[in-house]
Amino acid sequence: MSKIISLLHHLSPLLILLFLLPHHSNADVGTASRYSPPYLPSGCYGTEASQFPSSNLFAAAGDGIWDNGAACGRQYLVRCISAEQPRTCIPDQSIQIKIVDYAATAVSQPSSAATTVVLSDKAFATIANTSATFVNIEFQQ
Ligand SMILES: *[C@@H]1O[C@H](CO)[C@@H](O)[C@H](O)[C@H]1NC(C)=O
Repeated sequence: MSKIISLLHHLSPLLILLFLLPHHSNADVGTASRYSPPYLPSGCYGTEASQFPSSNLFAAAGDGIWDNGAACGRQYLVRCISAEQPRTCIPDQSIQIKIVDYAATAVSQPSSAATTVVLSDKAFATIANTSATFVNIEFQQ
């Protein structure tokens, strides 16, 4: 037994290093809350009605990705990976969202403060149970 523990002890720096190495996908981990109408005017496009994709999968950028407004129009692939309540994430659901707003100035309040992205009702409901106020996500531009 002590030999196994000693072996694990010697291997642990290696295991930690492997964990820290970038994964093959370039995805980042963050959080997502949601917001409800009114969505206009938005921080990116004002009152322009054509800003929303026909899928209604869009989002407001949190401070971490807002990038001084450069985030406007960026598309992200988003997947729910975990939440406080088990079975909140809808399995095998990835969505593509378009950034149309800035979370800090959005007309309607996010369901949870300071998340990486604030998803439209439709976007949030596609990847998670809407009784959650926020979920952990994997996202990739
Ligand atoms: C969503 O979560 C609530 C609260 O945890 C639960 O009562 C409800 O059954 C869930 N809905 C679905 C579709 O899983």
